[in-house]
Amino acid sequence: MAYETLIVDVEDHVALIKLNRPEALNALNSTLLGELADALEAAEKNDKVRCIVLTGSEKAFAAGADIKEMADKSFVDMFGSDYFGAETTRLLNNRKPIIAAVAGYALGGGCELAMMCDFIICADNAKFGQPEINLGVIAGMGGSQRLTRFVGKSKSMDMHLTGRFMDAEEAERSGLVSRLVPAKKLMDEALSAAHKIAEKSQLATKAAKEAVDRSYETTLSEGLLYERRLFHSLFATEDQKEGMAAFQEKREAQFRDK
Ligand code: CAA
Repeated sequence: MAYETLIVDVEDHVALIKLNRPEALNALNSTLLGELADALEAAEKNDKVRCIVLTGSEKAFAAGADIKEMADKSFVDMFGSDYFGAETTRLLNNRKPIIAAVAGYALGGGCELAMMCDFIICADNAKFGQPEINLGVIAGMGGSQRLTRFVGKSKSMDMHLTGRFMDAEEAERSGLVSRLVPAKKLMDEALSAAHKIAEKSQLATKAAKEAVDRSYETTLSEGLLYERRLFHSLFATEDQKEGMAAFQEKREAQFRDK
């Protein structure tokens, strides 16, 4: 399917989705977020896809929600349409692992979009920020909640109140990103992580994603029980038998998602 604001490529079980509004540093407008939700749903339904990589350009992952689209909207427009509410819910419904490969600016909605992915790998030129305060508003796609969980209250408050940017080293040091690599190696690193994930049992990757995500939503004791039950349930799969047999036979496991 052809998109106006995205380039999508599926190869070797990995869907690579590239945000493509270079004239606006990939600012997230309604068209882009709607298309992104469509592309992610298509990847979810495509049996060939086992992992997804979401990226932008070398200069910008995404410089935020589209200020030009929002500037003249009223409260009634924003609240009445639940601006970006439906699209973000659709993005979060995806059960396949999604890696954000971030180079350049990931600001406002761009930082929030990266945080909605399962983990972030960034280039050494990445800059993260929640600069909405400079526009007389605050984050609206999860920044105040997710950034706080990633980096803690003090740093999150600093970012939201001053609007300052965080460079790649600070982002890695604070736990916002899982890996920091030289810009030239970003896509190789992200695609190689995606291919590694694609080799696993999809039943197990889905269970792992559900279990980690649950840690954000529940108490420790409920989360531990949820994890243990998912762990137990994987013993009903052929992939568990194959994985454990392969270990004992000293060979690579051949998972069949069964
Ligand atoms: N919305 C719309 N257009 C944007 C944009 C945005 N968020 N960010 C950049 N652009 C456009 C610029 O207007 C410019 O277009 P024109 O050439 O037509 O003027 C083009 O992209 C290139 O941008 P700059 O010339 O500004 O590039 P720069 O290298 O000088 O600066 C930047 C880069 C620091 C990222 C700067 O563009 C910037 O500060 N952008 C806005 C960042 C921001 O405030 N993001 C938060 C948005 S609100 C939000 O996201 C709310 C939410 O949580 C949902």
